Amino acid sequence: MKRRKLLKTAAVSTLSAPAFLRSRNLNSTLQMASVGTEAKGWSDTILMSTHAKARHVAFCDVDLARTRQAKGLQPDAPVFQSSREMFEKMEGKIDAVTVSTPDHMHAYISLDAMRRGIHVHCQKPLTHNVWESRQMRLQAAKSKVITRMGNQIHSHKHYRTGVRIIQDGLIGKIKSVQSWCNATGHGKSGHISRPKSAPIPKTLNWDQWIGVAPTRPFVAGRVYHPWGWRDWQDFGNGCLGDFGCHILDPVFTALQIHKAPTHLLCTDHTGINEEVWPAQNVVKYDFPGTKFTEKDSFEIIWLDGGRRGNARGTHIPREIGLPSSGSLFHGTEGTMVLPHVGAPRLYPQEKFVGKIKEEASLDHYHGFIDGCLSGKQPSDGFDYAGPLTEAVLLGNIAVRHRDQKLEWNEDKMSLRSPTTDLSNWLTRDYRDGWEIKPV
Ligand SMILES: NC(=O)c1ccc[n+]([C@@H]2O[C@H](COP(=O)([O-])OP(=O)(O)OC[C@H]3O[C@@H](n4cnc5c(N)ncnc54)[C@H](O)[C@@H]3O)[C@@H](O)[C@H]2O)c1
Repeated sequence: MKRRKLLKTAAVSTLSAPAFLRSRNLNSTLQMASVGTEAKGWSDTILMSTHAKARHVAFCDVDLARTRQAKGLQPDAPVFQSSREMFEKMEGKIDAVTVSTPDHMHAYISLDAMRRGIHVHCQKPLTHNVWESRQMRLQAAKSKVITRMGNQIHSHKHYRTGVRIIQDGLIGKIKSVQSWCNATGHGKSGHISRPKSAPIPKTLNWDQWIGVAPTRPFVAGRVYHPWGWRDWQDFGNGCLGDFGCHILDPVFTALQIHKAPTHLLCTDHTGINEEVWPAQNVVKYDFPGTKFTEKDSFEIIWLDGGRRGNARGTHIPREIGLPSSGSLFHGTEGTMVLPHVGAPRLYPQEKFVGKIKEEASLDHYHGFIDGCLSGKQPSDGFDYAGPLTEAVLLGNIAVRHRDQKLEWNEDKMSLRSPTTDLSNWLTRDYRDGWEIKPV
């Protein structure tokens, strides 16, 4: 299904009852599966497995060389190389799944799971493009499953404390926010154009790894698989995709941003080709104000690739340095710096001595399982993570159109530059046989 056709079905969707209602008693054990079993996939698997009521019943990884740890955890659980095959063969036996694959496959796998009535914990960014994020939100509501995005710092005491500071009004109403990250948009794979192909390892199903993306030859090393895929536009979303849903999460939660940005502008980047993301970006977002902001609109500036926020004009003394990654909330009564990941710092310091009420950390993974068992949706479900990821990924469309102020209409799913309709960039052309059905 080509981009234009998909977008027509994206804007409005009727929510209806789930097609599939499980008969399992969820008060007993939550039967879990993992898609992606190494790297973050392994950490998601093991951290879920420490819950007393979780039991892994199936694993899926396209590379069988990367399933050793999972097999060690639950030797009798079958191992698959295709998530579709796993869901089909294990129909009715999987209650919840962790999706920890490269970003381009999050939506394909998670939507398949949700349509079968399976609860989903999906890694950040929720999806690879804006349209997919919208589908994830709509499908979660339609299937009435429990969902959570895997930006686990959402539950960390430092981010939770930062949120509390803003919502308690300690630094007054927020004038503006800057968020930044020291990671670069490319550099992990060591390439900015496609290197020569290499034989595909026997353990790897390369066709399954490519999934929805246009096919290309395998390359050895960490160029695409594992890890290097982040750099490449077909599979990842550079630094914004990798860290935007982490670092902007406390901004969205604290300010209760429920409305999408109205405008986006990339004011600078270090160059983009047709393959990889720029090493550094600066993107400005205009958001409608909330009850925590000073005015009825406010700006969030995103900087990456080693650029940092600018404390001039805030309450931060000149000699104070900013952390390499984090956010700066400029309020009417003070300024908060929230490092990624570190304790919030308030300025002027003397004004806030003894004023910070520290929140406790929560277990993000167990919180998801508890939600599945109780039927109570925890925070950071796809109703929240969908719009957050939409905003993050819109930033990368602005990057593709540097110096053009883009106008976003969330309801119509329409994105325009002053001269052109850019809505085609909201989705992708799906590989034949790997199309995603709209909700
Ligand atoms: N929350 C965090 O702190 C955090 C940290 C790292 C990565 N991540 C996210 O986790 C995801 C995975 O990142 P990573 O660094 O582990 O990547 P990776 O490439 O190192 O590992 C991905 C794993 O998934 C497997 N895989 C790939 N495609 C698959 C498919 N279609 N079906 C089943 N298995 C598949 C790979 O073989 C590999 O074992 C990404 O979305 C990333 O953004 C989150």
